[in-house]
Amino acid sequence: MTKELNISWDGKIQSRIVGADTLSGIAGLLSGEQEIYVVFDKNVAWVSDQIVSRVPVRAAVGLETSEARKTMETVLSLERRLLEAGASRGALVLAVGGGITTDLAGFAASIYKRGVRYANVPTTLLAQVDAAIGGKTGVNLDGYKNMLGVIVQPQFTFLCPEVLSTLPPREFRSGLAELVKTLLLADAESYAALLPSAKSAQNALGEAKTVPTKCKNAPKCTWEAETLPVRAEHIWRAAGIKADIVSRDPYEKGERMKLNLGHTFAHAIEHEARLRGDDITHGEAVSIGIILAAELSEKLGVAQNGLSARLKADFSALGLPVDCPYPADVLRGAMHKDKKATARALRFVLLEDIARPRIVEVTDTE
Ligand code: GLY
Repeated sequence: MTKELNISWDGKIQSRIVGADTLSGIAGLLSGEQEIYVVFDKNVAWVSDQIVSRVPVRAAVGLETSEARKTMETVLSLERRLLEAGASRGALVLAVGGGITTDLAGFAASIYKRGVRYANVPTTLLAQVDAAIGGKTGVNLDGYKNMLGVIVQPQFTFLCPEVLSTLPPREFRSGLAELVKTLLLADAESYAALLPSAKSAQNALGEAKTVPTKCKNAPKCTWEAETLPVRAEHIWRAAGIKADIVSRDPYEKGERMKLNLGHTFAHAIEHEARLRGDDITHGEAVSIGIILAAELSEKLGVAQNGLSARLKADFSALGLPVDCPYPADVLRGAMHKDKKATARALRFVLLEDIARPRIVEVTDTE
């Protein structure tokens, strides 16, 4: 079964989000494409192999992905591969992987010969609900995240639960944080509906190693499509919320900033973790960042007391981290370098309540 959402503005569909139960659904989306170049994360080479077996692909380039390799150097190596393969202005770059892969491949496509089209097959939960939707592409610079990049919409983002079957439990939790963030921003009912499944998600994540590996064609399979610890309807709802926000504010002039809930803190946490050699995923940092944003909301009188305690209890039930490992003073320097910091103040997305975000500029003293 396939379903579709669109990102649209100026009366035109700018990007399609297509959901299908199995990978075979991608063939129809790519029919008629003459020049497909796949850029894939080597961790999910099996997904790329399945696509290559279904549609004619000119070249497939595997990447070793990490935040440290999300750089202009990697983009330049992709540009050279496209050039060597003879890619023309009619090329379609198909990114297969998590957010690092879709950011790198989308950026490479967007500047190759002044821009060729790209499309995404996100293979992590985080990329399915956030990174691969909305057209943000780019790379890190000198340890600061996403300092260089462009916003260019993918032709389509293909959402398929089958590709999540090899996702490690910790990566699942990381994506869960972005999913929760999106529901928390815009849909109190869906946020509440996610919570009852928290216990089973927790159990599934906790017992992941014992799940039998029966998935078709997927080495090191962790989940079967029908036993994923997050229900497809929640993924689809988060994708829909993001698609609507991006349709109203594609270039982040206003409303889209709300999708950065928890991220001013999260980027600072990730920066500090890199300096110290600590191992914290983006989603873990976002989870802690949302709790800090809720605490700040209370301190500034934006939210009533009790919101952060409630979120802490909810997030803990979902197995998400809630305690910041670093003191506020340590995070401040990194926050000022964040893209979202204006000259004199730090910009935070705060919460008046669930589904009531508010963008606030906060001075250092505050
Ligand atoms: N990840 C936030 C956004 O795409 O705007």
